[in-house]
Amino acid sequence: MSETSVNQRKVAMIGCGFVGSATAFALMESGLFSEMVLIDADKNRAEGEALDISHGLPFARPMKIYAGDYDDIVDAAIIIVTAGANQKPDETRLDLVQKNVGIFKSIIPEIAKRNCGGILLIVSNPVDILTYTALKLSGFPENRVLGSGTVLDTARLKYNLGEHLNVDSRSVHAFIIGEHGDSELAAWSSATVSGVPINTFCEMRGHFNHDEATERIAENVKNSAYEIIAKKKATYFGVAMAVRRICEAIIRDEKSILPVSNLMHGEFGISDISLSMPAIVGAHGVENRIPITLDEEETEKLQSSAGTLKKIIEEVL
Ligand code: 2OP
Repeated sequence: MSETSVNQRKVAMIGCGFVGSATAFALMESGLFSEMVLIDADKNRAEGEALDISHGLPFARPMKIYAGDYDDIVDAAIIIVTAGANQKPDETRLDLVQKNVGIFKSIIPEIAKRNCGGILLIVSNPVDILTYTALKLSGFPENRVLGSGTVLDTARLKYNLGEHLNVDSRSVHAFIIGEHGDSELAAWSSATVSGVPINTFCEMRGHFNHDEATERIAENVKNSAYEIIAKKKATYFGVAMAVRRICEAIIRDEKSILPVSNLMHGEFGISDISLSMPAIVGAHGVENRIPITLDEEETEKLQSSAGTLKKIIEEVL
């Protein structure tokens, strides 16, 4: 059966918990779409979110937002999956793996059997394992399956650096790569503030203790979700903005370089695993991976992050 042609103005959201509903709200505000279908195992929840968000439309711009089912996703340009259990205080993202791989084993075949032509954007955690699971179970070409990966962690890094250096975080060019989780790493050796190497810029701003600062900031980024979950039980606004940014790159064919979770093919000796590595994201999804320059220590950390993910994949798939 051939794939259904897609409506570039339509998005589907599978899962309407905190992350799904915050993302739906961010997407409504973005003006990128004119139709959004919300799907949840609890249909009342999806209906409630659709109504609540729709009531903001007179303050934004017209679009159709409704609760639907899997038959409504076939022509969506982007199918976002946020369904699954989320982290409780003291749980890691990887603790969710059994439960959420199980949930994906029921969701992804529903998508696969409908010959959808859109891009599958995985947000549920552990996002790298679930992106790989979705790729394998969907049979979609790999460019059309990506995960939100470390787009959020990279935003957290830029935010923290922006605060530290008293500069607009959008002028910071730096990536968190690897697992979206405890084994992630900051690619410091390629970090710049608008082309100025990060350590040089730090010195321009009166900071000379580079090792202490980079370590503290990377740890802060890594522990952000734990801190937020301990304080307010869940994280959702940051990730909603990250997903909105990825959708924007796809729908507007921006060819933006974003650290989405995508399948590796031997870069840094890593293959057959999805993890975050900057990639060109546009209308076709992941268009090219950009293996950034890493020093020896960063390469080792990335390989160890990949090893952590590989071991889990072997256990659960
Ligand atoms: C976050 O990093 C929990 O993955 C989610 O906010």
